[in-house]
Amino acid sequence: MYYLDILFGHSNIQTDHLNILLGDSDIHLVHFDIRTGRKEIQSYLLHIKFIIKMFRLDNKTAVITGGGSGIGKAISILFAQQGATIHIIELSEENALQTVAEISAAGGKAYAHSCNVANQQQVVAVISALEKVDILINNAGIANIGKADTTSEADFDKVMAVNVKGTYNCIFATIPKLRENGGVIINMASIGSNVGIADRFVYSTSKGAIKAMTMSVARDYIKENIRCNSISPARVHTPFVDGFLKNNYEGKEAEMFEKLSQSQPIGRMAEPIEIATLALYLCSSEASFITGCDYPIDGGFTTLNN
Ligand SMILES: NC(=O)c1ccc[n+]([C@@H]2O[C@H](COP(=O)([O-])OP(=O)(O)OC[C@H]3O[C@@H](n4cnc5c(N)ncnc54)[C@H](O)[C@@H]3O)[C@@H](O)[C@H]2O)c1
Repeated sequence: MYYLDILFGHSNIQTDHLNILLGDSDIHLVHFDIRTGRKEIQSYLLHIKFIIKMFRLDNKTAVITGGGSGIGKAISILFAQQGATIHIIELSEENALQTVAEISAAGGKAYAHSCNVANQQQVVAVISALEKVDILINNAGIANIGKADTTSEADFDKVMAVNVKGTYNCIFATIPKLRENGGVIINMASIGSNVGIADRFVYSTSKGAIKAMTMSVARDYIKENIRCNSISPARVHTPFVDGFLKNNYEGKEAEMFEKLSQSQPIGRMAEPIEIATLALYLCSSEASFITGCDYPIDGGFTTLNN
C-alpha cells in the first residue's frame, strides 16, 4: 500500500489535509479537517477513481497499419500507454521498428511486421499468426493529386489498392480473430469522404469507399459484438503532409503549409495525438454503444467553412 499526502490552503479554512491511500485496486481519499479533527471520505473521489480507470486497453491486442509514421505512430504509442499489446503492420520496417523501440523504452509491448496491406497473402500470413486480436486500426494510406482526367490508371489502381483493398484485406484477415471475443475496427477516412476537395479525385474516391465499407462491416458483424467506425480528419501535421508539400510545392512549402493550416476554420492543422485520442475513445469500452459512425475531426472544416 502506498501513502500520498496532499496539502492545500483555503482562505476561509486554514488548511485542508487530504490523504490518498492507494491500494492494489482501490483508491480511498480521506478528507481530514485539522480544525475539527473530522475525517470523511469525499464522494467526488469515487468519480476520480472512475476517470482513472476509463479508456484503458489492458489485455487488449491491437493491430495498427501504418504505425511507423504520423497518425498510426501516435495511435500505437497511446494505445500501448493504455495497456494494449501493439502489432504494427508497415511497409517501412525501419519506421515500424522505431515506433516499437519507443514503446518498449516506455515499458510497453509492441511488435513490427513488415507487410504491404495491399497484398492479401502477406496480410493473412501476419494476422493469422497472432494469438488474438481485439482491435484493428486500418490507418495505412497514400495520397494522390489530380482530377479525373489527370489521374493515370496506374495511380488510380495504386491508391485504391492501398487505401481500399488494403483496408478490406486487413478486415478479411482479422474478422476470424475478432469474432472470438468481440472487438473494434477503426478505418481512417478523411474530410474527402464527406466534402468535395479540389484535385483529390482518387484519394477522395478511396476515402468515400472507406466510409461506405465502415457501415457495411458495422452492419454485418453487429451480432458478433464487433463494432466498426471511421474517423475523418482534416489536415494533420504528419510526414504525409510534409511529403505532399515537398513533392507538389517545392520552394513554396511554408506558404502552402500556412494556406492548408488556414483552411481549417480553427486556424491550424491537427496534431497526430488529437486523432489518436479520438481513436482511443472509440476503441475503449466507454464507446460500447457506438458503431457504424463516421467521426469528423477537422477544426470545423466540414461544417464551418462558409
Ligand atoms: N495527414 C493528414 O492530413 C490526413 C488527413 C486525413 C486522413 N489521413 C489519413 O490518415 C492515415 C495516416 O496518415 P498519416 O498522415 O499519418 O500518413 P503517413 O504517411 O505519415 O503514414 C502512413 C504510414 O503508412 C505506411 N504505409 C503506406 N502504404 C502502406 C502499405 N501499402 N502497407 C503498409 N503500410 C503502408 C507508410 O509507410 C507510413 O508509415 C492515412 O490513411 C491518410 O489517408 C491523413
